[in-house]
This record gives sequence, structure tokens and C-alpha cells, in this order.
Amino acid sequence: MTEGMSRALRASRRGRGHVSPNPMVGAAWTDGARWITRHFSRFGGAHAEARLFPLLPDAPSGELFLTLEPCTVFGKTPPCIDLLLARPPARVVIAVPDPDPRVSGGGIRKLKEAGIPVVVGERAADVVANDLPFFSAHLRGRPWVEVKLGSSIDGRVATSGGESRWITGPSARKDVHRRRSTADAVVVGAGTALKDDPELTVRHVKGPEPSKIVIDSGFRTSPEAAVWKAWNGVYGPGSSPEPALERRGNHAKVGTVWTRRPRLVLVSTEGGDRARRRAFEELGWEVWSLPGADDHGGLGGRHVSMEAFLARALAEGFHHLFVEPGPSLAGALLQGGWVDALTLYMAAKVIGGSHSWSGGYEAATLADAFQFQTVDVQTLDQDVLVRLRRPGVIEEFLSCLPGSSRRSES
Ligand SMILES: NC(=O)c1ccc[n+]([C@@H]2O[C@H](COP(=O)([O-])OP(=O)(O)OC[C@H]3O[C@@H](n4cnc5c(N)ncnc54)[C@H](OP(=O)(O)O)[C@@H]3O)[C@@H](O)[C@H]2O)c1
Repeated sequence: MTEGMSRALRASRRGRGHVSPNPMVGAAWTDGARWITRHFSRFGGAHAEARLFPLLPDAPSGELFLTLEPCTVFGKTPPCIDLLLARPPARVVIAVPDPDPRVSGGGIRKLKEAGIPVVVGERAADVVANDLPFFSAHLRGRPWVEVKLGSSIDGRVATSGGESRWITGPSARKDVHRRRSTADAVVVGAGTALKDDPELTVRHVKGPEPSKIVIDSGFRTSPEAAVWKAWNGVYGPGSSPEPALERRGNHAKVGTVWTRRPRLVLVSTEGGDRARRRAFEELGWEVWSLPGADDHGGLGGRHVSMEAFLARALAEGFHHLFVEPGPSLAGALLQGGWVDALTLYMAAKVIGGSHSWSGGYEAATLADAFQFQTVDVQTLDQDVLVRLRRPGVIEEFLSCLPGSSRRSES
């Protein structure tokens, strides 16, 4: 493991919450005596290489470490590969090829064709683990679904009298806000929107505000719910006189500049009440009308199809969904096999009773149980935070990267 890639990876993390749906990228250069590092810091802004190269000596030589291969296409900025070809370092070390089909190994190929020594694969697993939503979007064609829950130690989210706030303590809530700020969108079901009327903002820490999505097939939520009030005051129709020309995730193109503008979305089924829909749209909500599905994912049911929802979220540029479900939505996500990561805050208390966070999800045998892998366990005051993820997902993504043996066989 080299110091160079560690520096590049550390630098890339500074872009978390600011660059999606683009990847987090870090670049580190050394001539053996000095180090210079830069990262990709803002969607629509200069890439890590473009921020680094102006700081290097005229004939850079030395070694360059990149967490992702240099891009080869004109996007919002010129291709970074031209910077490396014009002033080649003595050696380039790249963690992973870019899975974006417009690049897909093309940057590495160009370096090799120019006779620049290139090493690929250093700390590849760590780089993939650091930006799972980006790799999920490009390699699986769907967003990364992180489910967050606060429960008692026996997995209950409400008492027999229906009391559900707050089960966990202030440190857990602060940690939730920190994680919200790293996601593209916070998602809740209609049940939670109605009962808790949450704002879904990042208030207890400083950090970027994600978009808010309410899944509500029947327009049961109030258009003036707390989530709308909190969003409208800062990002609503009155906040910007200039219309967005284009939107990607949390970003809007106004004139020629990309600015951060989190969105407020209501997801309903096709053919819903038109007047109700208009009431939402007039207040600035985006309404996504999607096919319905039954409890087993079959078409035509009364709930929004999760498959259709995830496809739409991906198309809109939301790669990381931070879902804060009640038991119904959590159960549906488990049932459909959509959960990639679980972020579970458990209070050191037993509530008992029937209000389990997993809702109607049921495995007939232990072999059928939804299996996770434990990633991290922490204590937050009296609460326990357990972070889990779908097993084998990093290996799966690595095997699908451009140039990997499994990908070239397929
Ligand atoms: N402790 C925690 O971490 C936590 C977090 C959130 C909420 N809660 C608690 O949970 C309670 C609310 O839970 P809830 O179960 O009533 O509400 P919920 O899970 O937040 O939302 C229910 C919604 O999920 C959707 N849904 C259900 N089955 C579905 C399926 N098969 N496919 C697609 N969508 C489906 C339905 O939306 P449609 O209307 O669109 O069909 C339904 O309205 C509240 O007491 C709240 O305080 C606890």
C-alpha cells in the first residue's frame, strides 16, 4: 500500500455529499520530496486533475496517484487525459478504471499508447467501498439503497400505545443528520409523513442538504407538510427567479452555472387524483407518477412499484437514497430484495410487542433470511449503531469494472 494512494483517497472523501452523481475523486502527486493533493469538490466544477496540474512544476515528472482513471470526454469540463499527455508524470498509479461507458478504460489506454508507465488496481477495493452509490449506479444500473432505522434493542419502533419518538438519544439523531448530508435524497413513506410530519433536514450538524422524497401513492400527505415548509423557505419556487435549464440530482443548471438546489418530490401511482396532484405542483413539489405494483412486485397493485421508483431515481441523478422507513416501507424493501445497507441505531431498552421495524417481512427458513455483513459497530452514548451491508457487493462491483476478467468474458 503506498502513501500516494492513501493521500488521494483521503482527499477524494472531501467531495462526499457535494459531487454526486459524479464520483468522488482524489489526486496526489509527489517528486519524492513534496506532496501536492487535490480533490473533485463540486458537481459541475473542475476535476481533481484540473485542480492539481496548475500547481505542478512545468515538467512534472514524479508520480501521480489517482483514485479513478482520467476522463477522456468533453463533459462539463475538458478531458483530463489531455493534461496528463501534455505534461506526463514519470508514472501514473490508478485505483480503478472509470465504469462510465463514455470512458471505460479509454484514459488508461491513452496513457499506455503514449508510453507513460501505468499501474492499475492499487487499493481498488477501498476506492469502491468509499463510493458505493457511484459504482452501484454504473455497474448495476440502480441506486444504492441505505435503510436507516432507530429501534429498541429488540427491534421495535413503537410502544403498544403508539409512542415512537424518540427511541434513541441526541447523539444518534446527530449521527443521522450527518449521514443524511452525505446522501442524494432522504426517502420516507406516507405513513411516516402523516404520523411524524418530519422536516427531513440536516439541522444538528453542518452539511449539504439532500433532496426529500415522499412515497405516497394516494396523495395522503398534506402539500403543506413540515417537509414542504422547511424546503420551501430555502429552495421553493420563490427562492430563485431564474428557472433551472437542466437538473441532475441535487443540482440545477441556471444560465451556464450549476448550483445546488435540493428537490422535493412526491411519488404516486399513475392515474391518481388530478386536483390533488395540482395542489402539490402549485406549491413546488415535483410529482413522479409511476406504475403501481402489488405486495409481490407484480404490476397493477395499489402501491408504487419499487422497481419503477428506483429506475426513476437513477434517471434523475439520485445515486444514494437514504431511506427512513416505517415498518410498511421497510418490509416492502426487504421483501423486494432492494436493501443494500442497513444503518441501525438501537437504544438500550426493550419495548416488546408487535411493532417490529421489519414490518410484514418474513423468512420461511434461516437459509431464506435476508443476510447482511456487519461493517461497523459503535456506541453513541447509550445507543448502539450497527452498520451492515449486502455481503459480497464490493467483490461484485470489482468484478464488473472495465478490464476485469468477468466483464471481458460477458
Ligand atoms: N424508528 C424509526 O426509525 C422509524 C422511521 C420511520 C418511521 N417510523 C415510525 O413508523 C410509523 C409509520 O410506519 P408505517 O409503516 O405506517 O409507514 P411507512 O413505512 O413510513 O410508510 C408506509 C407507506 O409505505 C408504502 N408501502 C407499503 N407497502 C409497500 C409496498 N409493498 N410497495 C411499495 N410501497 C409500500 C405505502 O405507500 P403508498 O401509500 O404509496 O402505498 C405506505 O403508505 C410511524 O409511527 C413512525 O414514527 C419509525
